[in-house]
Amino acid sequence: MSMKKIIAITRGDGCGPEVVNEGIKILKIVSDFTEFDFEFKEAPAGGEVWKKYGTNLPEQSFETIKRSDALLFGAIGLPDLAPGIAESAILNIRQDLDLYINLRPVKLYHTLREICPLKDEFIGEGIDITFVRENTEGLYKNIGRLEEDSAENLMLYTREGCERIITFAFEYAKRKGHSKVTSVDKANILKPSQLWRKIFHEISKSYSKIEIEDIYIDAFCQWLIRAPFKFQTVVTGNMFGDIISDEAAFLIGSLGMASSGNIHPGKISMYEPIHGSAPDIAGKGIANPIGTILSVGLMMEESFDSLEIGNEIDNAVEEALQEGRTVDIKSKSLKTLSTIEMGDLIANKLKSNLKA
Ligand code: NAI
Ligand code: MG
Repeated sequence: MSMKKIIAITRGDGCGPEVVNEGIKILKIVSDFTEFDFEFKEAPAGGEVWKKYGTNLPEQSFETIKRSDALLFGAIGLPDLAPGIAESAILNIRQDLDLYINLRPVKLYHTLREICPLKDEFIGEGIDITFVRENTEGLYKNIGRLEEDSAENLMLYTREGCERIITFAFEYAKRKGHSKVTSVDKANILKPSQLWRKIFHEISKSYSKIEIEDIYIDAFCQWLIRAPFKFQTVVTGNMFGDIISDEAAFLIGSLGMASSGNIHPGKISMYEPIHGSAPDIAGKGIANPIGTILSVGLMMEESFDSLEIGNEIDNAVEEALQEGRTVDIKSKSLKTLSTIEMGDLIANKLKSNLKA
C-alpha cells in the first residue's frame, strides 16, 4: 500500500488559517519521520472566498477535495456576513461526501483537571468519552416548512442510516478497547428513537463482549456533568449529538481543545476543530491550535489507519501541556504561549517521540 497521501487544506476565515498552519506543521513532522508521505493541496472555502467569487465553495476547491485522501478544515464564518452565507459550505461537503459519522472525542488531560469547570469529585476517574453522532438524517435533513403560524421539520431515520452509525460505534469501541457503548435517545416519546433503540439492541448482539446501556437524552445531560467518567463510546442521533457534544466540549477546558472528524470510512473524510472562526481573537496569534492538532490525530487514525501515530500526537499534546499553555487554558505556573509557539512545542515533542 502506498503511503503517499494527498491532503486537501481549507484554511477558512478568522482564526482558521492560524490553527490550520499548526495542523500542517504536525502533518509535516509525520511525513518527515514516518513512512507516510503527504502532499498538500489548497481548497479555499468560506466567507473570504464568498466575498471574492460569490460562492463559499468554488468548484475547483470541491474538485480538489474529491481528488484528495482527506480534508483538513479550519473554520469558516465572518461577522459581517449573514449567518449561513459562509457556513453552508460545510453542510454541502458533509452531504455531498455522505459523511455520516461525526466523531468527537472529549478527553480531559490530567494536567487540565484544575481548569475543568466541574468539582473534582464529579471528574472522578477522569473524562475520556468519544461521541459518535449520526450526521446525515433526523431533524437536520432539512425536510420541513415554515409558514406564518406554523412550522415543522421531519425527524426521519432509516434502518440503513441507524445501522451504519451504530455499527461504526461498536467497531470503534472494539478498536479502542472500550467495555461499554451508551446509546442516547428519547424512545419514551419519539418514534425514530424507538427504531434507533431496536436497531441498537440488534447490532449489539454481534458484540457480546461489549456492555450496552440506553439513556434518555434528558437524563444523559445530567449524568454528563454528574459522572462523566461513566462513559466511553456514546452513540446518538443528529440533534442530540449536536447538543451533548458541545456540552461535553465545555468540560475539557476550552472550545479550542476539541477535535472532530466528519467521516465516511474508506472514503474522503473531513477533520476540523469544533470551534468556529473566533472573530474576537482572529489575527492576534493567540488561538489554541490543539483542537486542530488533535483533529490531525483523528485523521491519522480514521483515514490512514494509524492508531499508533494518533496516539503519538495525543502524547505530544499531553507533554506540551505540562510546559506551556495558550491564553484560553493559561496557568499561573506555566509560560503563556502564542498559537505558533504552542504548535512548535507540540511538534518538537512529536518529533522526538517519533525518532525514539
Ligand atoms: P467560535 O467557536 O468561533 O468562538 C466562541 C468562543 O470561543 C470565542 O470567545 C472564541 O474566542 C473562543 N474560541 C474559539 N476557538 C478558539 C481557539 N482555537 N482558541 C481559543 N479560543 C477559541 O464561535 P462563534 O463566535 O459562535 O462563531 C464565530 C463564527 O464561526 C460564526 O460565523 C459561526 O457561524 C462560525 N462557526 C463555524 C464553525 C465551523 O467552521 N465549523 C463552527 C462554529 C461556528
Ligand atoms: Mg454545534
